[in-house]
Amino acid sequence: MNVSTGLPDGRTFDALYPRPVFGYNDGMSLVDVNLPDAMAAVGDEESAFLREADRRINEYLDGRSDRYGHGFVPSDFVAVHSALRAIADGAVAPGNTFCEWGSGLGVVASLAAMLGFDAWGIEIDRDLVAASEVLVDEFDLPVSFVCGNFIPPGGDVCADDAGELGWLAMGGANAYDEMALDPEDFDVIFAYPWPGEERVIAEMFDRHAAVGAVLLTYHGLEGMRLRRKLLDGAARRN
Ligand SMILES: C[S@@+](CC[C@H](N)C(=O)[O-])C[C@H]1O[C@@H](n2cnc3c(N)ncnc32)[C@H](O)[C@@H]1O
Repeated sequence: MNVSTGLPDGRTFDALYPRPVFGYNDGMSLVDVNLPDAMAAVGDEESAFLREADRRINEYLDGRSDRYGHGFVPSDFVAVHSALRAIADGAVAPGNTFCEWGSGLGVVASLAAMLGFDAWGIEIDRDLVAASEVLVDEFDLPVSFVCGNFIPPGGDVCADDAGELGWLAMGGANAYDEMALDPEDFDVIFAYPWPGEERVIAEMFDRHAAVGAVLLTYHGLEGMRLRRKLLDGAARRN
């Protein structure tokens, strides 16, 4: 079976991944991609940004009566930065468009912008979007935030599971309308799924992302995971 890789310049996945990939993800067309074991160093500019972001996140959470009672929990930014650096340095993605699904205070999208990605963040909470915009303005970072829902139109596979998904917001505006972009326009998508939402996020990526795009996810103590979409739906059925 001949399948287009969706990668530029006739590059092959093997050329991009000298390290082995392993295992299809049950029923999905995603393959795991190894990330380096060693953590990448965080530069001075990134350190200064992360210190300020941490301060603002604590201030934001301390100011809420329900510190743990809502959807925003920050990921491990140093670990995410390290993975993004590996993706950027290794030209792992087919291009440099990046989207953070559920961007919280926008820190990961900001790190992506610092690494040269054309970065977007989609967040359902209007206050967090406003705080993200203030943060990137102050650090003069070219990141675009959209207040809305990252679940793509037709992402009903996820909505079906909504009863079991405590934190994944279902309402709100379709973010892609405002962006004039679709999920398949992104080369790298990052998400920090709550426990129980990992599969739904992967399925959404599998269904809607472009062939060749990569999904980077943070899983708390289990760390980071990077997966690539190998086939589109039509190729899978053949
Ligand atoms: C676990 S937090 C992760 C925040 C950020 N990505 C990070 O790594 O620090 C998940 C975020 O997704 C947002 N969110 C949840 N469901 C969403 C949806 N359907 N569309 C847009 N944002 C959503 C929440 O408001 C929350 O800020």
